[in-house]
Amino acid sequence: MEDGEDYMKTCFKYYKCRKPQPELDAVLDFDSGVISEALVISAEWVTKVNTEDFSRLGLISPLLWKAFTLKNHPGFIFLRNPFTAAGQSYWARRCVNVWPSAGHRTNLHFSQCSPDGGSCCWTLNPRYCDDSAGFFAKLRWVTMGYHHNWNTKVYSRDDSSEFPVDLCDLSRLLVTCLTGGEFSAEAAIVNYYHPSSTLSAHCDVSEPDLTSPLLSLSLGRSAVFLLGGVQRHCRPSAIYLRSGDVVLMSGRSRVCYHAVPLILPTADSDRWTGSGTTTADVIDVPHYLSNNRVNISVRQVYPRNTAT
Ligand code: OGA
Ligand code: MN
Repeated sequence: MEDGEDYMKTCFKYYKCRKPQPELDAVLDFDSGVISEALVISAEWVTKVNTEDFSRLGLISPLLWKAFTLKNHPGFIFLRNPFTAAGQSYWARRCVNVWPSAGHRTNLHFSQCSPDGGSCCWTLNPRYCDDSAGFFAKLRWVTMGYHHNWNTKVYSRDDSSEFPVDLCDLSRLLVTCLTGGEFSAEAAIVNYYHPSSTLSAHCDVSEPDLTSPLLSLSLGRSAVFLLGGVQRHCRPSAIYLRSGDVVLMSGRSRVCYHAVPLILPTADSDRWTGSGTTTADVIDVPHYLSNNRVNISVRQVYPRNTAT
């Protein structure tokens, strides 16, 4: 515990500010040199995964992965982009061109409940049916699997869409290789960030199961991510998250405050390449990624073996 100042808020405001622009010198950069403890990935955990799953899911060999922990944030694991260029394109395409219209829920869908208050269905606001440019300009989130209810912050077993099998497989593989633990991906929130979007400080504690890790995958523009403690007055660390980077929050860091105060301009060194676009796509994926950031956060909602 430090003094009473809300450092989450102070740091969020500092990095969010446009005038003057923040100094980025203190932002931890896992791409440059040794700034933390390298995590030795256990060969025993990796052998639990079928070798062909790495390439099937767009990943490079785990022998080449670079993972790190931070001493002052127990349970936090950073895995530097483990994806191939084609893998990044594949996942970005799923986020942009597939999931928003695959029976999941977005901020542009609204609920239509039957008059008796019984069954509910979600429909796309008709304004966007023939306006894909407008749709993508206004798209902020997609929820898949159990839908996070933004108002009540409670999940319900009766309110879900089918969780994508490929994302479930990827999540299980990443959690197995990084922790040796089991993981059932049951809910995902895909956040779409525009150049001036931010995500204010919060902890993800709506899931009844807080012992399973939270997994986060970033694509597109880089961001400054703030990782705090369990209370708002713990001083957060600022960390660069770039396209392809994977973050796993387990143990104590599972319930810690975090935020995204700043999306950075695209740099020459940014990583998405390859031909992600097919003629069927509504949106050109490399173009979308150079103007936006996408974050997929995957959660196991319910403890294993619980029916209710
Ligand atoms: C979230 C979240 C972090 C990010 O969706 O809950 O914290 O990096 N996302 O966008
Ligand atoms: Mn979060």
